Amino acid sequence: MFCKQNRWWDHAIIYEIYTKSFRDGNGDNIGDLTGVISRLDYLCKLGIDTIWLCPVFLSPFKDGGYDISDYYKINPDFGTMDDMEKLIKKAHQKNIKIILDMVINHTSNQHPWFLSACQSKSSPYRDYYIFRETDGSSLPNNWISSKTLEPVWTYNPKTNDYYLHIYTKYQPDLNWDNKEVREEIYKILKFWLKKGIDGYRFDVINKIAKAEGLPNLSEEDVSPYADHLFENQEMVHEYIKELNKEILTDYPEALLMGQTSGITTGQAVDYVHPSRNELHLYLQFEHVDIDKGHEGRHKDWSIKEFKESVMKWQMMADKGVWPTVFFGSHDLTRMVEHFGNIHPEYHSISAKMLAVIQLGLAGTQIIYMGDELALKNVEYKSIGEFTDIRSHSIYQARLKKGEVKEEILKDLRFISRDNARYPIPWERAERMSRDNTSVLEFYKRITEFRKSEPAVLFGSVRPILDNEKDLFAYQRNYRHIIITVLANMTGDIIRIDMTGYGIETGICNYEQSSKYELKPYEARIYKLETG
Ligand code: NOJ
Repeated sequence: MFCKQNRWWDHAIIYEIYTKSFRDGNGDNIGDLTGVISRLDYLCKLGIDTIWLCPVFLSPFKDGGYDISDYYKINPDFGTMDDMEKLIKKAHQKNIKIILDMVINHTSNQHPWFLSACQSKSSPYRDYYIFRETDGSSLPNNWISSKTLEPVWTYNPKTNDYYLHIYTKYQPDLNWDNKEVREEIYKILKFWLKKGIDGYRFDVINKIAKAEGLPNLSEEDVSPYADHLFENQEMVHEYIKELNKEILTDYPEALLMGQTSGITTGQAVDYVHPSRNELHLYLQFEHVDIDKGHEGRHKDWSIKEFKESVMKWQMMADKGVWPTVFFGSHDLTRMVEHFGNIHPEYHSISAKMLAVIQLGLAGTQIIYMGDELALKNVEYKSIGEFTDIRSHSIYQARLKKGEVKEEILKDLRFISRDNARYPIPWERAERMSRDNTSVLEFYKRITEFRKSEPAVLFGSVRPILDNEKDLFAYQRNYRHIIITVLANMTGDIIRIDMTGYGIETGICNYEQSSKYELKPYEARIYKLETG
């Protein structure tokens, strides 16, 4: 039942790179494509198969490159088209595939289409975006975006009307109802595929269709935000189906992975079940958002909730929804701070523990750059140090409500996207590569183990020992092999009898271990042959 198809991405380990902070190749202190090329050997040794490059196109960079002003040009900070072609070629020579992050829900407000659309109502690009007039007494509707905490409309004086942007005012939404827009997008997608890339990660693809007529949020709506009116609308499926057909007809091997935050498991079926011909992979955030409160506030979470969420999505494999597994990204708190423990005693141990949980699971895996180095969050003291536009929106919105600066900063230090976006400290990687006990070397062992063990790649998943609330435990079963993954997610000892789980595989984050207890943050993998 599990993963009947064998598509190239099904068992891939994808490595996500936020280019600007990965590796500087030309000495200007900005990460770039030649920097990525120079680290291909490092990535090969890490055992990854695919690179996901966060947006590398021309952009004013108001939102980390997720505001594209020319889809056909490489951001000069990152290099040239020649560098991109070299990267694709050299990566392929090393059997590494390249997928590009493509932002097609919106453009930058500096994109020539938008500049023209703002100039006059008769611009040929006017209908590429969503403009609405009002009598001046109110906005076109009452939508507030949960991302910016602000109305989704900005006034355009030249044409005396408003344009819609579900992210910042620098990111006007494209009008997907317009066939010409869709055709432009397909042209862009094919342009890069022709250059040899292997697929896409589509930014916020579940938001490209808005509720028909852009209706007001009604009084019965419990949330102050209108996200449900611009997410997962019926038409989104029509557009994705069309995109799928357009692209896969010419490039049948291309991966279409969509960022689909806020989806239910049922909606995931609609997006990725093979019979639907829409996306191949989804990215959902339920498990990483379990501690996400209102306006960036931190919410309590429990290991039980985390386990249940991860397992719920794992189980969807049986329903044709192949899991995509990640615990970190360019939008998230550093993984070891999020779910591990950065106390010096546990920092490395807990980072390894998380690697065991993650890389033992079924699905396409995504490692976010630097998680293999157990990187921590930033320690900024004042709001001026933050560069993330979302952190500033949260800060301003909460300040307006009269909140104390220090309270807001405390939350930002934890949730700010700057945490995942500061330059990779390569000297740390250097050091770790010389230390056989380091987190980096542990990652290499576990990716190798994953690839050599069919039960980890193909096996079904079954949670075990559910009553142990602090233990993340599951089994992978394939033919006559049972792989057991056990991980203590706390600083306390957990006593359990592990004698029945078979032989030790060597994947364990402590040198010495007992068959009857798991030390703080201890994780290990057993293998049992039953036939
Ligand atoms: C999701 C991306 O991951 C995030 O970084 C970006 O700010 C928004 N989409 C808007 O493009």
